[in-house]
Amino acid sequence: SDDELHARIRAAKEKLGSDLVILGHFYQRDEVVQYADFVGDSFQLANAALTRPEASTIVFCGVHFMAETADILARPEQHVILPNLAAGCSMADMADEDSVETAWEELMEVYADEADADGLASVIPVTYMNSSAALKAFCGRNGGIVCTSSNAATVLEWAFARGRRVLFFPDQHLGRNTAKAMGVPLEQMPMWNPRKPLGGNTEADLIDAKVILWHGFCSVHKRFTVAQIDQARAQYPGCKVIVHPESPMPVVDAADASGSTDAIRKFVAAASPGDVIAIGTEINLVNRLAAENPDKTIFCLDPVICPCSTMYRIHPGYLAWTLDGLVEGEIRNEIVVADEVARDAKVALERMLAALP
Ligand code: 13P
Ligand code: SF4
Repeated sequence: SDDELHARIRAAKEKLGSDLVILGHFYQRDEVVQYADFVGDSFQLANAALTRPEASTIVFCGVHFMAETADILARPEQHVILPNLAAGCSMADMADEDSVETAWEELMEVYADEADADGLASVIPVTYMNSSAALKAFCGRNGGIVCTSSNAATVLEWAFARGRRVLFFPDQHLGRNTAKAMGVPLEQMPMWNPRKPLGGNTEADLIDAKVILWHGFCSVHKRFTVAQIDQARAQYPGCKVIVHPESPMPVVDAADASGSTDAIRKFVAAASPGDVIAIGTEINLVNRLAAENPDKTIFCLDPVICPCSTMYRIHPGYLAWTLDGLVEGEIRNEIVVADEVARDAKVALERMLAALP
């Protein structure tokens, strides 16, 4: 029964004490979030993995790339557990290492004549945190860097100080929205389709390019539309609209603000009692913000429920099963990034941390 499940989780937590830290992403369901020692956006969770060195085990209630990042940043002796190994991210899966390596080789050929012409690299690879450890390692080896939705502009500035162009993967929308806000014209943001030679571009397009956008997207955030924003404003004149930057560009442009999951939380906290706020992000976070702020009217832009189906795979039953294992001295569903991958990926992650103010 549910009661028995929750009793098991509570008992294991009490028994393991400070030897265990449970991290939870904002998109996790409330039945799981209630057990997290720390809840945050993906950047904050990566930092949180660094700040509990006394815990021998980190149980990561989030998705696979987040647990991999925790394993890369944690002490070598720390174990990282993902309660359900099927909790991936469909966007992260849209860029695989082979396709990115192939794209890189093709780009190197296009830019062969200009290499190092003015002390700048021809292209800097930038990977969104929502990517495999192998791609973070690729960036580490090739002068590149990692970004999250909370620091993408700072990271792009870092990259433009070192290179003439950026290859940004996997999320085209975060790349486009961020570069556009920095003044990069849309004509200089060609898209890279990994199924086509030169990504479907001409050499001239790639030479002119400032940001080459990988053909990836989030299936949750691509559902948000300008029509939904118009509808919210028609129904609640004066309402405020905030969306996650994984949303399509016209949606971000039409909203009052955009930001990471933590930025959305802060936007709500800073609003006044009585305010009406329409949010374009995953439903678990929107519903939690609505429940925590009864003095404000908060709703999701998408009237059809839009959970992240992979975040949702962390069911309390899996959490209980992995914690039971720990109590019995057995590590279940451990995420282990191979040493050489972790070493290179850490270089790209540390560049991100060092680039921040
Ligand atoms: P945040 O970095 O804003 O938490 O976003 C992670 C994510 O997967 C959004 O879809
Ligand atoms: Fe991936 Fe989208 Fe889910 Fe975020 S909301 S974890 S980007 S599928």
